[in-house]
Amino acid sequence: MSKKKILITGGAGFIGSHVVRRFVTQYPGYDIYNLDALTYAGNLANLKDIEHHSNYHFIKGDITDAKFINELFHDYSFDAVIHLAAESHVDRSISNPLDFIMTNIVGTVNLLNAARDIWKNKLTSSSSGRTEEGLFYHISTDEVYGSLGETGLFTETTAYDPRSPYSASKASSDHLVFAYHHTYHLPVVLSNCSNNYGSHHFPEKLIPLAINNIKNNKPVPVYGKGENVRDWLYVEDHARAIDLIFHKGKTGEKYNVGGNNEWKNIDLIQLLCRIMDKKLKRPEGNSAKLITFVTDRPGHDLRYAIDSSKLQRELGWKPSLQFEEGLEKTVDWYLANEEWLAQVTSGEYKNYYRQQYQTL
Ligand code: NAD
Ligand code: DAU
Repeated sequence: MSKKKILITGGAGFIGSHVVRRFVTQYPGYDIYNLDALTYAGNLANLKDIEHHSNYHFIKGDITDAKFINELFHDYSFDAVIHLAAESHVDRSISNPLDFIMTNIVGTVNLLNAARDIWKNKLTSSSSGRTEEGLFYHISTDEVYGSLGETGLFTETTAYDPRSPYSASKASSDHLVFAYHHTYHLPVVLSNCSNNYGSHHFPEKLIPLAINNIKNNKPVPVYGKGENVRDWLYVEDHARAIDLIFHKGKTGEKYNVGGNNEWKNIDLIQLLCRIMDKKLKRPEGNSAKLITFVTDRPGHDLRYAIDSSKLQRELGWKPSLQFEEGLEKTVDWYLANEEWLAQVTSGEYKNYYRQQYQTL
């Protein structure tokens, strides 16, 4: 029997690389195709450890290019898609919304159209969405639900209320994914996850930025008063949730994924400073002196918090790590992988593709 062909988009990014690694190593019966445009956020060095596995294949390409995407789907006849490729940084969406509209909305529609086209003979109202019939799994964010006050949690039925260009583009893509399910019977499943942290996280996001700055004795920028709350989940726990939902999730449904782990930004940064002091053998309180309050993000959502009880109840998932343990592991990874960090911050990482994948 031929191997299932699974397309994973955005596999050279932070979460995508963890998902690709998990699928390549756990499922030798699948051929994993990583489609990534290698934007500033894509780094093939994230997958160095698995790039020579025989069931791993890299395809450089842009999901906003409809012709390319259609040809690709016809050439490979993928059995399933796990779609992570996106512009993902809220601050960049505030300065340049159009990139987010193009990749997150137009790019998603291009993939939906191509999937619909190659699976058209299998689409019926009773599609179960298992890989023999095609499955389009869309990875989304808790930011589509908007901002919470002091209390309450986002559930799968919370009304969408996106408030940044990033979250509005992700909300649009979520709606389109379900629209293709209802209109064309495309077998889809969707998940909305809270803030991830862990290895290979691009150092523009709060945790890796702070680790890098503390290490280099640079100011650690905290927006506003640092009172905004995020619900943090270790990235490998997210990858495990994606694996479960891909294999056991119900078609046409969505699942919230979260760490049940809320932190005010300032408290998180204080904890990180204490861990960094310990790891760098600096006197206690040294790193915290780098904390610098800066102008707030425009429209900064106050609080996100996820109710993941559906995923826990129906598929038996739960987060595996306590936050302090996960944060220490993350710090250890960044301190042990200085070359990765140096190459990312210098821009040198862009050469990895040329060195590994192109015959010059
Ligand atoms: P990331 O920015 O680290 O990676 C995105 C990847 O997509 C990169 O490899 C990039 O090269 C690729 N990409 C971007 N535009 C592309 C295009 N036009 N064509 C092909 N590839 C393209 O993102 P991430 O943090 O790993 O997030 C992955 C997904 O998970 C996104 O859909 C994001 O919305 C979602 N998500 C992220 C978080 C989080 O905390 N990081 C939480 C919940 C959901
Ligand atoms: O909730 C899921 C989302 O989490 C994902 O969908 C996004 O792709 C991901 O980037 C993340 O969004 P956030 O905006 O929450 O993450 P970020 O790391 O940018 O910021 C986390 C919090 O820290 C947020 O309240 C803003 C604040 N912050 C961020 C940066 C970069 C600072 O105070 N200082 C900073 O320098």
